[in-house]
Amino acid sequence: MRPRRLRTTAAMRRMVAEHHLHPSDLVLPAFVREGIAEPEPIASMPGVVQHTRDSLRKAAVAAAEAGVAGIMLFGVPEESKKDAVGTPGTDPEGILQRALRDVRAEVGDGLVVMSDLCLDEVTDHGHCGVLDAEGRVDNDATLRRYAEMALAQAEAGAHVLGPSGMMDGQVGHVRRALDAAGHQDVALLAYTAKYASAFYGPFREAVNSSLSGDRRAYQQDPPNGREALRELALDLAEGADMVMVKPGLPYLDVLRQVADASPVPVAAYQISGEYAMVEAAAEKGWIDRERAIDETLTAFRRAGADMVLTYWATEVAARL
Ligand code: PBG
Repeated sequence: MRPRRLRTTAAMRRMVAEHHLHPSDLVLPAFVREGIAEPEPIASMPGVVQHTRDSLRKAAVAAAEAGVAGIMLFGVPEESKKDAVGTPGTDPEGILQRALRDVRAEVGDGLVVMSDLCLDEVTDHGHCGVLDAEGRVDNDATLRRYAEMALAQAEAGAHVLGPSGMMDGQVGHVRRALDAAGHQDVALLAYTAKYASAFYGPFREAVNSSLSGDRRAYQQDPPNGREALRELALDLAEGADMVMVKPGLPYLDVLRQVADASPVPVAAYQISGEYAMVEAAAEKGWIDRERAIDETLTAFRRAGADMVLTYWATEVAARL
């Protein structure tokens, strides 16, 4: 037997490839910051910026033109506006709501416009929820805030909301609030298996996070794979339209399990630290940047992801 016969030429390899990257599988996460006049580079994510409202519109158009499927927006409010309950998250004039309206006005339905549904970007303590008297994240009080945020984001024009806070019951709670307010068409991309990861490091800089401490009391513990299937069952029962595994590369086994079990589309999120690792090694000349990027994206497809959230979405889509 000679498996090598199928590896002899580029044309042969292309023909027998089981997976091909395609722009329509890619989603661009993007940050928009209130009160800045110029895009602000994020040092730990070379090539990624905190956008102004104006530069975000341009980035959305560039993504659409490259054929990228969607954009996932994160809002960074002015520091002075953050508070214990995350008021900028429900204010119709909060930065995320403004950015949603901007992007919809610019691209209409040409991109799937998504928004992060979480409190960490808008609270002064930086946790993904509101705190109880002991300083712990209060699950059910947080659900009430998520419902209010969901309505603000839906009213601002989001096609898809991404509840990412890992509160129990968040998908069902948000679904009921949306339906009761007439937003039946707004879809939910559930952060189903989301692990308490060191690889979120650069994201903290990207959203000027105020967090001191960690999220281990609500995000999943890295040793646990089986738990992802429990989270999947709950999210499906609560009405998730799509599910996600996050981070990406360190959790390809979890992605495979979720993809095998899920009747709805599955996304993988290639997070900030994964991006930073490749960029840093490439900058030192230690790896071939483009090959490494494509290899990581292909790995997600091979492990069962239908779509990938990646900070390289526009760049990769443009050269495919
Ligand atoms: C929570 C959220 C986080 C990320 C996406 N949504 C941070 C966290 O859970 O700590 C991380 C994304 C990345 O690291 O690229 N709002």
